[in-house]
Amino acid sequence: MGEFIIEGGRPLRGSLQVQGAKNSVLPILAATILHSGVSVLHHCPRLRDVDASIRILRQLGCRADWEGDDLVVDASTMVCSQIPDHLMREMRSSVIFLGAILSRCGEAELSLPGGCELGPRPIDLHLAALRQLGAEIDEGGGRLHCRAGDMCGREITLSIPSVGATENALLTACGCEGVTTIFNAAREPEIDDLQRFLRAMGHQVQGAGTSVVTVAGRSPTHDLEHTVMPDRIVAATYLAAVAAAGGEVELKGVDYRHLSTVIAALHEAGCRIHSTGSAVLLRSTGELKGVRPIRTAPYPGFPTDAQAVLMASLLKSKGTTVFVENIFENRYRHVDELCRMGADIRVEGRVAVVCGVERLRGAAVEATDLRGGAAMVVAALSAEGRSRIGSIHHVQRGYENIVGDLSALGACISLEA
Ligand code: EPZ
Repeated sequence: MGEFIIEGGRPLRGSLQVQGAKNSVLPILAATILHSGVSVLHHCPRLRDVDASIRILRQLGCRADWEGDDLVVDASTMVCSQIPDHLMREMRSSVIFLGAILSRCGEAELSLPGGCELGPRPIDLHLAALRQLGAEIDEGGGRLHCRAGDMCGREITLSIPSVGATENALLTACGCEGVTTIFNAAREPEIDDLQRFLRAMGHQVQGAGTSVVTVAGRSPTHDLEHTVMPDRIVAATYLAAVAAAGGEVELKGVDYRHLSTVIAALHEAGCRIHSTGSAVLLRSTGELKGVRPIRTAPYPGFPTDAQAVLMASLLKSKGTTVFVENIFENRYRHVDELCRMGADIRVEGRVAVVCGVERLRGAAVEATDLRGGAAMVVAALSAEGRSRIGSIHHVQRGYENIVGDLSALGACISLEA
């Protein structure tokens, strides 16, 4: 399993190319089965969740292999439309394969994904969207038995702009005759990246990034290459780390528009931030101040995935910051661990109040989930002394090389097996 060992209290300085986005490449990997041929993914991050997706693709009969930094998927050999329990349980977002398998095979069988550290992870919106398209779905015994039924292009509406449900509906619509319009679609940049991938494959998709997405289904498809967008949450993590520890960093390949709410908060906290077309530069004295309430919301609101790392960067700020977590019901599990470092945080339901303290002390803490673990790293970098962070498998789900990246900025961080 391993632990991160961090000696905090050092300023960070340097330039980084940000890895490919986990939350873009996972739906894209599912989408590769929409074409009975080859998809080449450039800038694909090597993550535990990508490994889990590769295992699912191979289980379905596809070939999926690394060629240098490219992940090459050949879905022409796909023979199966079922995903066994043990593979579904490896990754909560494996449900994203449902729409793609249904599109390709006209049927799909997979188990209900488990919950996760963030609380129950229902898929009712996914199933409602697919049923609006005409899919026949039986839920029984923890398994989903899905058939295309009289699936065809239709107007469908999501009751909330769910990222996963939007992606599942989009991939299902690609296999439906006629035009599908998805109202109240999620507007996250990762859906825009998925649309670029699908268009490169030959599908006629438009509107991603807005709340109305349309698909003209059953287009002829062909082999394609795609470069995965940079990971905006990894970028937010590194900006938060330098903001708290002090120093300066240039993050290359990042579209600042994808981070506007995070950049606004760090600017208000006292950082100097400059954005160019393809990079974000941040300078910080390490002396931050509290900011106006941070309320997480669907894009373009403040991203729930950046809540923990921003909180970690403000633990020694002058003043108080209120967080309101509106997306997930259990996304403050990192708070108790941060308090072991001397943070002063009080949680009441969806609200967390962070009162800045003079100093943080290195401690032995546990990563509670993917972004909570990243928050431990951010806090440890600005704490005095040594921290040990356990259960780092959570962090390795979404960060390709957090030790290498932060070491390149001068951090004293290592992985101890
Ligand atoms: C995606 O999860 C991301 N994961 C999450 O990132 C991210 O936090 C989330 O979107 C919100 O931006 C991937 O893209 C792989 P949702 P997803 O459906 O699709 C509820 C990370 O740290 N809901 O937009 O599961 C749900 O419980 C991860 O990288 C239903 O009630 O998020 C949540 O409260 C964590 N029924 C809210 O909607 C459903 O059928 C938003 O969820 C689906 C969701």
